[in-house]
Amino acid sequence: MSNLFAGKKVLMGVSGGIAAFKAVSVASELVKKGCIVKTIMTRNAEEFIRPLTFETMTNNVCLTSTFERKEQFDVKHVSLAQWADLFVVVPATANVIAKIAHGLADDMLTSTFLACMCKKIVVPSMNTGMLENVATQSNIKTIESRGIRVVEPAEGRLACGDIGRGRLPDADNILQCIYETLSVNMDLKGKNVLVTAGATEEYIDPIRFLTNRSSGKMGYAIAKVAADRGAKVTLVSGRTSNLAVPSNVKVLFAGSACDMQKAVLNVAKDQDICILAAAVADYAPKAKSNHKIKKTSSNMVLELTRTPDILESLREHVKEDTFLCGFSMETQNLLENSKKKLISKNADMIVANNINDSGAGFDVNTNKVSIITCDSVLDIPLMTKEKLAGVILDNILKKFKN
Ligand code: C5P
Repeated sequence: MSNLFAGKKVLMGVSGGIAAFKAVSVASELVKKGCIVKTIMTRNAEEFIRPLTFETMTNNVCLTSTFERKEQFDVKHVSLAQWADLFVVVPATANVIAKIAHGLADDMLTSTFLACMCKKIVVPSMNTGMLENVATQSNIKTIESRGIRVVEPAEGRLACGDIGRGRLPDADNILQCIYETLSVNMDLKGKNVLVTAGATEEYIDPIRFLTNRSSGKMGYAIAKVAADRGAKVTLVSGRTSNLAVPSNVKVLFAGSACDMQKAVLNVAKDQDICILAAAVADYAPKAKSNHKIKKTSSNMVLELTRTPDILESLREHVKEDTFLCGFSMETQNLLENSKKKLISKNADMIVANNINDSGAGFDVNTNKVSIITCDSVLDIPLMTKEKLAGVILDNILKKFKN
């Protein structure tokens, strides 16, 4: 048996649903895989199952209250939070999900969850009405947007007799998510990664600006995946389609190309890898009017000046071995133009977007690219932006190590 998971520290939060007993088999399977499992139960969970059951199955502590003294921890919820590689809440009631979404910390489970910086999984289980209530749906969206993985509830006969969505998924499905999350490679630990994303805005007057169709999804996906793989990520973000900042990512917002350049150059010297995915304006209005420009009966000419090229300016502000990756979007001669950018912008890699292919480009969740370096062109098939982020980072790491 592979011992990929041996020694992995899993904290399991059990809240008060009828499905609480099913968490025992999940805990037991994790122990069989070599994980070290500690459990925390809410008071309501104790109505369904005894802590002793978890302690026996895991051969470890099961905590039920912030004031217990079973372990020698100074501040127990903080120590446990720092101890865990993964925090999984199974089952998660509507009440616990609401508390997590709003940062409440009124018992051991929720205090520890709030203090925890590790990867987190929430496995909801509740009556269909409670699950489908807009409040619960909105809470689930909120926690997902903060990087917490929420496992889709199963359909079937519920404890209350109703048939519908809300059953705890099978133990195998829960375990699969846990294994996937635990096996994420931490190969970027110790690396500082800078990502730019989104569109810049170049103001003409206080009301109007020049911008482009970038949604920021690709750059945000890279920031998220790099942080998940252990990097210390700084995201310099222009305007996006209302994307949530991924958890464990430091964000600096920048409006114009000039603002973005300032933000990037300020942090450039600390970076090991810079990935410039932002769609930066090439031109900005020569002068910004302080007041709304009034229309007249004649045509109007807007004079534009060149903006700084952030990627091109970056090389002399970073360490000698910093890896620079740019993006390229063209409607014609994609490869040829992208290869030129690799050289003219002193980059180590250009990711060329094939926007003419369906499913790739603006505001969609998938993309199709070619990864270009000085000695290779790698055509990557259509895939989700998150998966592609991983492929781009894999390729950067390969080149980086050389
Ligand atoms: O020259 P082009 O805009 O096609 O190059 C795209 C790449 O250069 C992207 O990585 C983009 O973030 C970067 N860029 C930049 N500053 C600009 C224009 C583009 O850093 N002013």
